[in-house]
Amino acid sequence: MQTVHSLDPLRRAVATLRETGTVALVPTMGALHEGHLTLVREARKHADHVVVSIFVNPLQFGANEDLDAYPRQLERDSALLEPEGVALIWAPTVEAMYPQGFATNISVTGVSEGLCGAARPGHFDGVATVVCKLFHQVLPDVALFGEKDWQQLAVIRRMARDLDLTQPHADAIIGVETVRETDGLARSSRNAYLTAEQRAAAVTLPTAMKAAIAAIESDTRVADALADLEKALLSGGFASLDYAELRDADDLALLDARSDRSMRLLVAARIGKARLIDNMAVAPR
Ligand code: PAJ
Repeated sequence: MQTVHSLDPLRRAVATLRETGTVALVPTMGALHEGHLTLVREARKHADHVVVSIFVNPLQFGANEDLDAYPRQLERDSALLEPEGVALIWAPTVEAMYPQGFATNISVTGVSEGLCGAARPGHFDGVATVVCKLFHQVLPDVALFGEKDWQQLAVIRRMARDLDLTQPHADAIIGVETVRETDGLARSSRNAYLTAEQRAAAVTLPTAMKAAIAAIESDTRVADALADLEKALLSGGFASLDYAELRDADDLALLDARSDRSMRLLVAARIGKARLIDNMAVAPR
């Protein structure tokens, strides 16, 4: 396993890999956990070589967000990736990714609006810009992203189609199901911000979401199910709810009633220093 920090060595290393097979890219911001490692294991099924990028992308953090506090632990991350058969870690410096005078922005309209796009202005521009660069830098055959960040996955799929970022074969962007703790909380690097007490309370998020989904699937009005979800989160120890919405799973259109297409319940809520997000499938009518 090789680690490179600037573009020329990256291009040379990727060219060498490409001589002996296909390449999968797994973009991350590091502080790796079982969710990331699951993406890596899945990547190995889809390509001969796996490249993992580790870059805490300043462009996708808002002014009052946790850019400085975000955990950076490249040595630990490398030790986790080595036994997974990763060929190459691409860990650029901020200067390598955004050279002096960098002035380009990729903005995907539609799917990036609302939900986390409303709560975090500029966030998805930052994600789209860095992921677009990563695609050009690594030129992967496939790239893997977690369903944990459902809206992010929708933004990246839209951008990849619009900008011809991937080979035209089906499903070059592969979504991987959310990996959860045994109690159901989605794995996240931000769970590390929780105290033991907050961590215990955080399980209310998946639990209340499952209850809301069961209610919607048994034809409780969506607005009532979402109001109950908010009450459950606030009484379960969450400080506030950013959003809880039922959306079309593919185009993310807002739904106020159960439909006959695949749907997703998406929630963001705050507890302690953490803003936790989760999403789950809702069965069509
Ligand atoms: P990061 O939060 O580090 O996540 C990297 C990838 O791991 C993303 O595709 C994310 O959806 C996936 N992931 C995180 N937790 C997961 C879980 N519990 N189960 C399954 N997959 C999970 O997402 C980002 O970084 C950045 O926005 C990035 C795409 C790297 C661009 O900077």
